[in-house]
Amino acid sequence: MGVRFIKAAVVYFLIGLGVGIYMSSSQDLRFGSLHAHINLVGWVSMALFGVIYHFFPKASNHKLATIHF
Ligand code: HEM
Repeated sequence: MGVRFIKAAVVYFLIGLGVGIYMSSSQDLRFGSLHAHINLVGWVSMALFGVIYHFFPKASNHKLATIHF
């Protein structure tokens, strides 16, 4: 499950960076909260879940991990 979370995190990271680069290059800051949430929930939290599942394989193999994902 760790790998699945980390793969999803990388996708969110690329989207979050894209929104950030768009905002800074256009000086259109309306999407700040979208950018912050994609990066912090999508990238940071998902990556953290992935790392935690990597170090706790019993939790990773539990059916709750699938529901969590
Ligand atoms: C290429 C990388 C990035 C660029 C170009 C970028 C650009 C920006 C810009 C232009 C803003 C708006 C600043 C303002 O309102 O004055 C912003 C806000 C923010 N960014 Fe990024 N960002 C990047 C990466 C990240 C990452 C990796 C994270 C978190 C892991 C992050 C978290 C935030 C947060 C929390 C805010 C505040 C949002 C708000 O005030 O509504 N950013 N960023």
